[in-house]
Amino acid sequence: MLLFRTAGESHGQSLIALIEGIPAHLLIDFDFIDNELKRRQGGYGRGGRMKIEKDRVEVLSGIRHGRTLGSPIGMLIENKDWENWQDVMSVREVLEDAAAKRRVTRPRPGHTDLAGSLKFDQIDARNILERSSARETAARVAAGSIAKILLKALDIEILSHTTAIGGVALPDDFRVEWSQLESIRNDDVSRCVIPDVAAAMVEEIQKAQKDGDTIGGTFEIVARNVPTGLGSHTAWDTRLDGKLAQAVMSINAVKAVEIGRGVAVARAMGSEVHDEIAYSEIERRFYRLTNRAGGIEGGISNGEEIRVTGYLKPIPTLKKALRSVDMITKEPFLAQHERSDTCTVPAAGVIGESMVALVLADAALTKFGGDSMGEMLRNYHGYLEQVRNY
Ligand SMILES: Cc1cc2nc3c(=O)[nH]c(=O)nc-3n(C[C@H](O)[C@H](O)[C@H](O)COP(=O)(O)O)c2cc1C
Repeated sequence: MLLFRTAGESHGQSLIALIEGIPAHLLIDFDFIDNELKRRQGGYGRGGRMKIEKDRVEVLSGIRHGRTLGSPIGMLIENKDWENWQDVMSVREVLEDAAAKRRVTRPRPGHTDLAGSLKFDQIDARNILERSSARETAARVAAGSIAKILLKALDIEILSHTTAIGGVALPDDFRVEWSQLESIRNDDVSRCVIPDVAAAMVEEIQKAQKDGDTIGGTFEIVARNVPTGLGSHTAWDTRLDGKLAQAVMSINAVKAVEIGRGVAVARAMGSEVHDEIAYSEIERRFYRLTNRAGGIEGGISNGEEIRVTGYLKPIPTLKKALRSVDMITKEPFLAQHERSDTCTVPAAGVIGESMVALVLADAALTKFGGDSMGEMLRNYHGYLEQVRNY
């Protein structure tokens, strides 16, 4: 029901996001979109690029007088760094000298450089790395912010926090409260809600920086007020957990995704894992005494908070030398880089929120549909009434 695509190279002129399927009459808060982009740019351990870019979105289509039209929404984010790359990244043919400038024939371990160059038959890995760079995720966040605005109209909200940097982690049994998530400010460098752990996380990043190394970690995304019934058990590709896993796994450097307690349940007994069911006469709703399942059973949301954790590897560009082989000469060399991010876990949490928002918005559109917000909200409230009267 909801389609989204991004286009754009890391040092190209701009990034583009296209989102299709949003009903007409949704009021768009443009400051909210820009604030989401700003949140993605933060975090301790970001490199020089984020100092150059001050992302803002220019909406090109699909919105008139502040409200959606139901037509595709096109958005553009300028790359300020383009100024320094106009020849290198020109879409038109340039002289051989300019074309050879910033050519990359030395593939970095942990990046797409080598596999992508072999697959697309390129002798310049720049033709691969420019697109595989996580700069692209700025456009995902632009699309995700529209999805979040749609979900907010249904009262569904999504936030995230950092749960570990390297070996420094929140306690295993820690369950974050919504108010703690809301208290994370834009300039919070760790995006961790416990001050002592946050300070230790920053120290961990500083230590990695000093050692010329990089460091990974985990982030958790929480979606609240998600009604029972998004996603479906009826086919493998309609299961909400599967869709969320794919969406979060698609974020650069994410290597594992958990729903709820995730991998820990494989090592626990059944009685320690499953969430017992209760009923509230006052609220006229079923609820769970615990939420270890992370709000999804059998591929369907069960009305509890949806909780998704993403695991990031340490980013691959590091000062410490790693062995590699030149693609042209086949000579071995040591891959070593000076300017890069050290840790991107806090930023990845924000990107994760966008990916979760896009999946939930798609699931909500599939269930409640409608060409206009009025139609969608009618369907939505009618369904909530049906569940209350069950
Ligand atoms: C927000 C964000 C920023 C990133 N910045 C960098 C970076 O500065 N340098 C780097 O080597 N990798 C960086 N990465 C990771 C790479 O993009 C990623 O490892 C690479 O594209 C290979 O993809 P894979 O790790 O998913 O296999 C970043 C990832 C994210 C999520």
